[in-house]
Amino acid sequence: MSKKNIFYKHPRLYTLGLKWIHKSNFAKRYRYMASFIREGDTVLEPACGPAILAGFLPKGSFYRGFDTNKNFLNYALKKCPSVYLGNVLNQESYCQADIVIACDILHHLKPTDRERFIQNCFSFTKKVFVICEPGKIRKTAKNIFYPLRKWIAEWSEEDGTNDVKSEYFFTHEQLLDQVIHGFGIIPPLIEREIKYFGEDIVTVFFKDKSYRQKLKTQEFVSAIVPVFNEEKTVAGVVEALLKSPLINEVICINDGSTDGTLSVLRKYKDKIQLINFKDNKGKGYALVEGIKKAKGEIVSFIDADLTNLSDNHIETLLEPVLGNKFRAVLGYPSNGWIPDVFSNLTGERVYYKKDLVPYLEEMTKTRFGVEVFLNNLFTENETKKIPLKKLRGLYKYEKRSSVNAFREYLGEAVEIAREIGKREGLIPEDYQAIAKVSKATSFKELRIRIKGVANKNVRHFLEKYVLNYIKTVQHWWKSF
Ligand SMILES: C[S@@+](CC[C@H](N)C(=O)[O-])C[C@H]1O[C@@H](n2cnc3c(N)ncnc32)[C@H](O)[C@@H]1O
Repeated sequence: MSKKNIFYKHPRLYTLGLKWIHKSNFAKRYRYMASFIREGDTVLEPACGPAILAGFLPKGSFYRGFDTNKNFLNYALKKCPSVYLGNVLNQESYCQADIVIACDILHHLKPTDRERFIQNCFSFTKKVFVICEPGKIRKTAKNIFYPLRKWIAEWSEEDGTNDVKSEYFFTHEQLLDQVIHGFGIIPPLIEREIKYFGEDIVTVFFKDKSYRQKLKTQEFVSAIVPVFNEEKTVAGVVEALLKSPLINEVICINDGSTDGTLSVLRKYKDKIQLINFKDNKGKGYALVEGIKKAKGEIVSFIDADLTNLSDNHIETLLEPVLGNKFRAVLGYPSNGWIPDVFSNLTGERVYYKKDLVPYLEEMTKTRFGVEVFLNNLFTENETKKIPLKKLRGLYKYEKRSSVNAFREYLGEAVEIAREIGKREGLIPEDYQAIAKVSKATSFKELRIRIKGVANKNVRHFLEKYVLNYIKTVQHWWKSF
């Protein structure tokens, strides 16, 4: 038995080390591997280490892992009871599983043991076998630092079980060659998918071909973009969505725009589905029309006023639903310094279409209250709120005259307040008071109108939901 270095003695240190090495790819790798698992699936991880993967699995799946390292197993046992002592080279350690995932283990094994390991994994797989391995870009010329680099490489892999040699590592080319040839074990007819995460290559072998088809149909994602007068930004949003490998179709709803939005959208008419309303029907109505058209099981709502939507934002937004962990995602623009008080009202969202279908009729009437309406359909446990770093939407003050910008913000605030009012038990007279307030043309006038509302409860309601909304937007705009 080899020595165990400090990382293999302390699972927390090991995890920290991995995070440091992989940076943003740390979580991405595990999420990607977990994205092939569905509710009810059994998962086996040979050489599970401290079972980090277990933290990324969808609800309702069943995890098992085994390893030779008792320090890791004792730590893993605290969060998942189904880990046990076992050796990847012994068949007896394995059990049948829908998904078998082998992460960062191949280079620990002697080259002569690799085939046996792959054979074990593949024969105990029912649906999908996933293997993740680092491929080093190795310099052939031995420079003066070579002995030091070799020593570091070998020391860092001292896992207490194997005497790892630096030659055990594959180069990217060797690894790809192995993958293509199924490590000499997996038949060529088995479909495979390969993805790079930094130095790592993750290969997914679909032993059950029909399961792959099932995953594909399940994961069809429709992006739905309601657009009202966004001629400056809508092209950027549409292009980012069309570019994203995770989005299968883009549906834009021109909601009675009076600027050049429609002609911008028409340029993409061969690539997007375009729904055009002559008159403005409200955001709720527009989204519903998009949902009705959507072919996807998953629908993602994206506002058209975003200026820098990226692949990374889209991936972050979709991941919790694609990973089957949540039923609703709210992705809110976050700059680090602005408090995220409006995160519940964000337009960037993801849902399962089937969850929304029963509510479409009600949703058509919500206008800008649609976000409040949607929030109430899901519990906190079913909802994931995610900051989308550095995502920015244009302020209305950047695209309209200040009077029109004020009017639009007030319109939004009033529609949101109306939707909240339904849940707070407002009666028809209260809505008349809200309608009067909504006629204000400046902040000063709005304050006076609200002060004039006789009913104290309604007055407080308007201060809380309308006045504060406008105040916050104006404050941000001034400090922007
Ligand atoms: C780099 S770690 C990977 C752990 C885990 N899969 C992960 O992604 O964090 C390699 C693991 O393989 C385990 N290992 C090495 N040889 C093994 C063997 N023959 N049988 C079972 N586990 C083994 C080590 O104890 C260590 O936990």
